[in-house]
Amino acid sequence: MRLIRTTDYNDMSRKVANIISAQVILKPKSSLGLATGSTPIGAYQQLVRWYEKGDVDFSEVCTYNLDEYYGLLPSDPHSYRHFMDTNFFDHINIRRENTFVPDGANLDREAECARYDALLQAVGHLDLQLLGIGRNGHIGFNEPGEVFSKGTHCVDLSQSTIEANSRLFGSIDDVPRRAYSMGVQAIMNARMILLAASGEDKAQAVHDMIFGPVTPRCTASILQLHTNCVVVADRDALSLCPQA
Ligand code: PGA
Repeated sequence: MRLIRTTDYNDMSRKVANIISAQVILKPKSSLGLATGSTPIGAYQQLVRWYEKGDVDFSEVCTYNLDEYYGLLPSDPHSYRHFMDTNFFDHINIRRENTFVPDGANLDREAECARYDALLQAVGHLDLQLLGIGRNGHIGFNEPGEVFSKGTHCVDLSQSTIEANSRLFGSIDDVPRRAYSMGVQAIMNARMILLAASGEDKAQAVHDMIFGPVTPRCTASILQLHTNCVVVADRDALSLCPQA
């Protein structure tokens, strides 16, 4: 696990964007695993700016998102499909048919998980998987539990995740209780993992991810076993980690 220390959210965002942009420049046909949430927004904005300047071209890139709320239509303003469109895809030259997000509107869980896994299996290995980290150490919506998940599955969201995400909804009661999530095995299958973390509320999870035991009770700890995992974290997120 390689750690890149940054001063703050903006510094973290620029460094994350730099790594993604280098990936796309080096391999225009890259397959990128993408994440939603507050963490990657700054990196997406930076990538849009570089795209507008002509520095990076997404015309051949394919993207696969980590997760989606179960039961939300793609057009729902709270859906992760809508998040990706409005924060990133609408502003770059990616081909819409090359962007994949689990379909929250498909209520047949078995069919939807099988469909998404088939898409991922057709790619083989994603070139780069971007991740945030939950306060409880989740990656994607792989919540703390007794075992690491393998394939795409429909999860019951933990209370802490529902509370953390309620800031984006009208009230906590509006937060969906379930979500589709890419499995841990699929995430670990990526050639490179790029995890971004910002803010003091992530400090415990970041500490446990890097220094704790590898355990499904802190899902991100499994990244210690990945041979090419880069963590870009700001000072606040690293506030519980030793300085060395
Ligand atoms: P956040 O979410 O970027 O909104 O903090 C990260 C996550 O829950 O994975």
